[in-house]
Amino acid sequence: SRVRHYKFNVVMKTANRLCSSKPIVTVNKRSPGPILYAREGDTVLVKVVNHVQYNVSIHWHGIRQLRTGWADGPAYITQCPIQPGQNFVYKFTITGQRGTLLWHAHILWLRATVYGALVILPKLGVPYPFPAPHKEVVVILGEWWKSDTEAVINEALKSGLAPNVSDAHTINGHPGPVSNCSSQGGFTLHVESGKRYMLRIINAALNEELFFKIAGHQLTVVEVDATYTKPFKTNTILIAPGQTTNVLLTANRGTGKYLVTASPFMDSPITVDNMTATATLHYSGTLANTATTLTNPPPKNATPIASSFINSLRSLNSKKYPAKVPLTVDHSLFFTVGLGFNPCTTCANGGRVMASINNVSFVMPTTALLQAHFFNISGVFTDDFPGNPPMAFNYTGTPPTNLQTMTGTRLYRLPYNSTVQVVLQDTGIIAAENHPVHLHGFNFFEVGRGVGNFNSKKDPKKFNLVDPVERNTIGVPSGGWAAFRFRADNPGVWFMHCHLEVHTTWGLKMAFVVDNGKGPKQSLLPPPKDLPKSSHFPDSDWI
Ligand code: C2O
Repeated sequence: SRVRHYKFNVVMKTANRLCSSKPIVTVNKRSPGPILYAREGDTVLVKVVNHVQYNVSIHWHGIRQLRTGWADGPAYITQCPIQPGQNFVYKFTITGQRGTLLWHAHILWLRATVYGALVILPKLGVPYPFPAPHKEVVVILGEWWKSDTEAVINEALKSGLAPNVSDAHTINGHPGPVSNCSSQGGFTLHVESGKRYMLRIINAALNEELFFKIAGHQLTVVEVDATYTKPFKTNTILIAPGQTTNVLLTANRGTGKYLVTASPFMDSPITVDNMTATATLHYSGTLANTATTLTNPPPKNATPIASSFINSLRSLNSKKYPAKVPLTVDHSLFFTVGLGFNPCTTCANGGRVMASINNVSFVMPTTALLQAHFFNISGVFTDDFPGNPPMAFNYTGTPPTNLQTMTGTRLYRLPYNSTVQVVLQDTGIIAAENHPVHLHGFNFFEVGRGVGNFNSKKDPKKFNLVDPVERNTIGVPSGGWAAFRFRADNPGVWFMHCHLEVHTTWGLKMAFVVDNGKGPKQSLLPPPKDLPKSSHFPDSDWI
């Protein structure tokens, strides 16, 4: 294993998309930013230098950060942000993980433009558990607003309404040739006839689950969220913000150009026609003026396509890569996730739509939670996060009385190595919405999912405890539920939140604190000397 050094200069850059330009926050003047490559076992050092007027922090989404929670990155959870003019070195070792992940800013809405791929290769000499590809290509999906994204969310917070949806999706940074500004081109995937490729597909969009497909070609799924899956063939993949999917693609059409699409699933009711991002698969030897073979993206509400994809996912569960599903459960938690309402009219956020878990809208602290935990600073958080909603959840379609949200910085405490089951139930009270929920610091096993209300007697009998898919971000179906299990074998403070940025902003977030019983100083490495310790000005989209 090696030590790999990266330098991320956070700088402004004027970018041009959809026939208009605006200054954006970037890493090294690029958006998407640089691909971070490492091998399993390597130690990675990333020096982040903040040259912009925003507070910044970077999250290595899906990296377990064993004993190095300080490097996880969510602002005010594991660190105070890197202030303008300051820098911080993120240092972590990649243990027991290989595959595709992503990095992104974890403060404000900066991840709209501050994001990139994180590619972890297997240890030298260790093959993939599938046929080796001729070439590997990163395909990172994003979203683009013509206006400034901080203005978009600040506007929404002022009005209490939902923020404007983006003007386009992007594939490797570009809306693609179908947008009105076709002169700006798009991403081209060059292939040679007969060769096998691996696409490392990442959804770095802020607020949309996406379908991805390529005209005339099938995709073989081999990995999600940096865990190997049983291979299966599909025309369309579904990928939620924060998720990654590796697919094999055989260039078996000989010649031609084929349309690649990334299109929203269950979008907001507003119809925007230029939302589908496009790219081109181009066989070498094909003339540039050849017509592209088209494909229709699935309709936005194509739930059957989405479900059939998700239901096909299984962990590989081989001898070498066994699925270590916890068979017993020490902590059984039932979390409602959804939109609610803060009835307090004298509070800053009174009388407007909020999002919550078990009716708690999470309030960001001003001291980072991990520091409060490590140095035993009282008054920053409480560890009384409810394991069940305040009223038993039984939604029948009539808005019940449990719409009200409370606010608090409440955490759930898990003893080291205990086993945990979490059932996430979309409340669908104000509106049924899908929620891709991401847990920091762990992979978990998705043991079950369903539509409607979770039935605690019948549904657990159908849980898959043999080869459930292992991942770090789970899509809770709109108006349904999803269940996962994990072992709390990573001491620290670990954020869990909806990866739709608007829901996170509205409060759909909480954190677990995991301790080994001997106290944090025995279970975590000491904080790095350059860890930003305080914030001198608050960030605007706090609740
Ligand atoms: Cu990818 Cu807490 O986020």
